[in-house]
Amino acid sequence: MIQIPRGTQDILPQDSYKWQIIEERLKNIAANYNYHELRTPVFEATELFVRGVGGSTDIVNKEMYTFEDKGGRSLTLRPEGTAPVVRSYIENKMQHDVNQPVKVFYKEPMFRYERKQKGRYRQFVQFGIEAIGVEDPMIDVEVLSMLMHIYQSFGLKNLKLYINSIGDHESRREYNDALVRHFKPRIDEFCSDCQSRIDTNPMRILDCKKDRDHELIKTAPVIHDFLNDESKAYFRTVKEKLTDIGLDYEVDYNLVRGLDYYTHTAFELMSDAEGFGAITTLCGGGRYNGLLELLDGPHETGIGFALSIERLLMALDAEGIELEQPEGIKLYICTMDDNSFDKAGTLLHQLRTEGISADMDYKRRKLKAQMKDADRKRAEHVIVLGEDEINSGEVELKNMQDGESSTINIDELKNYLED
Ligand code: HAM
Repeated sequence: MIQIPRGTQDILPQDSYKWQIIEERLKNIAANYNYHELRTPVFEATELFVRGVGGSTDIVNKEMYTFEDKGGRSLTLRPEGTAPVVRSYIENKMQHDVNQPVKVFYKEPMFRYERKQKGRYRQFVQFGIEAIGVEDPMIDVEVLSMLMHIYQSFGLKNLKLYINSIGDHESRREYNDALVRHFKPRIDEFCSDCQSRIDTNPMRILDCKKDRDHELIKTAPVIHDFLNDESKAYFRTVKEKLTDIGLDYEVDYNLVRGLDYYTHTAFELMSDAEGFGAITTLCGGGRYNGLLELLDGPHETGIGFALSIERLLMALDAEGIELEQPEGIKLYICTMDDNSFDKAGTLLHQLRTEGISADMDYKRRKLKAQMKDADRKRAEHVIVLGEDEINSGEVELKNMQDGESSTINIDELKNYLED
């Protein structure tokens, strides 16, 4: 039997309403903050991610689904959304748009060849936003406030927002040098990944899952001490403005994020709900000054975040929050014989084209089984169509909620069932 690929999942019809509710909510909140949808291709030139996300990151090194097309081009299934958005921004010269900053959202599948673990999928759906074209702490605060708004709108409580500043490129350079000085003498005590990170991206040693308990991690220099005055002032203002709007956060100086493009504000939202599992990050993001230029774009800066719907669902589950199932069908037609079966087909056609959701039993089961089926389909009303009803043109319309019945002319059904 052919099985579903590892790390992917089917979203079954009985569960898809949860996705639809979440997607609708995300779109509405995006609209509230005036973010508009941008759709980019599922695959991009591999170089976009190598340059954009960074050649030393786990994503680029280990996790990309890269293939060569028939024309010999190296393409990669999108592992994240920021680099594609920036590529599109540059290609479409969005710096000239009248609306600035350019504020977009995306909700699309991403692909990462990750080790199988709860909360880590190889195909997952990210909802993300990017605001490009303004460098002002106020826009950082907008992004963070929208992020919290999303999670709080579902009633989630066990949330912890961690923020940090990883400074500008100059501060980062000095910090990286200090980390190299700190780790280099004893780097052979670290995992093989960290041994190469020391040359490519020393900051990533700080969030290595394997070496996180090593004493040198605990005694490592902190980025905050290396921020220049400008970076410190920017971060201070972000924090003040977050406090002004009453948004709770904690500063985590070790938060460095797993992608190379970040500068200044970086953040992660974690769940501390019991039962959420080992992977507790719900959402991550930050500012990326310099990414546009790195990708041959204009001198503009951006900030954004991305969350996966899979982990949002896990968080809802962990906190016992249920999403309300949508209403069932308006009408279920039970039939008694071949004649009423045919008549039901015609009636269904009419009602459906008039916008009434309705269904019947195509398996021609006994009345009792049909009533059960109506229940399963959460029909609001049921009629039984038999010889008498066809002759008289009237049916008993039973309201399944209160059990009340009323006699209705078949031609009147539509008017009666309309909201
Ligand atoms: P990221 O931290 O790699 O950042 O991913 C963001 C979020 O995507 C994570 O917090 C998590 O919710 C979800 N996620 C990542 N990998 C998986 C996976 N294998 N299975 C399920 N969910 C996953 C980015 O992707 C950046 N592009 C975010 C960003 C936008 N930064 C600025 N703008």
